[in-house]
Amino acid sequence: ARSARQYLPEKITLHALQETAKGCRGCDLYRDATQTVFGEGQRGAEIIFIGEQPGDQEDIAGKPFVGPAGRLLDTCMEAAGIDRKAAYVTNAVKHFKWEPRGKRRIHKKPSMREIAACRPWLDAEVEAVSPKLIVCLGATAAQALLGSSFRVTQERGTIKKVEGYPPILATVHPSSILRAPDDETRKKETELFIADLKIVAGHVA
Ligand code: URA
Ligand code: SF4
Repeated sequence: ARSARQYLPEKITLHALQETAKGCRGCDLYRDATQTVFGEGQRGAEIIFIGEQPGDQEDIAGKPFVGPAGRLLDTCMEAAGIDRKAAYVTNAVKHFKWEPRGKRRIHKKPSMREIAACRPWLDAEVEAVSPKLIVCLGATAAQALLGSSFRVTQERGTIKKVEGYPPILATVHPSSILRAPDDETRKKETELFIADLKIVAGHVA
């Protein structure tokens, strides 16, 4: 199958990955996106956060988690005592998938084959960063790493072991908190999210 594999650099460094990912044509998502949104953070970061895919604002900025979901992630990380600089932040899929709705571009969920096509970048980032812990934000990242039967609602906040990877913890995606039907639910969901992030902080302490 077509994938990002052939676009990877020979030597896996974060800088080389970031540069070569700009030209990835491993699936069709590059066509309607502005640019590749690669992960961001230091080599040797203790934690990798993995989201789903860049959103509208990330697509334009070229950086992950800079829109509303990213701002909520930042606030909750701070509340949990996680230094943003101690983290590397990326996505399971590196191009924004969307469909038009009026003048707006609405996020569209990436397919299993797009997630699989983009996987070589993610695995290379994990290898290059070599974190103590991987944090999956939401079902897309969690199921990519922990299998399609993984249920975030049931197993959030627990540490999982997968052969060949650092320990993995999955929690909800901050976007799901922003979509909460009312303020009270949003507040409760935010607190649960911060509680999961405190487990993350405790694991790398
Ligand atoms: N949602 C994601 O999953 N990733 C981003 O970078 C932004 C929003
Ligand atoms: Fe390559 Fe991933 Fe973009 Fe597809 S989504 S073109 S595999 S970087």
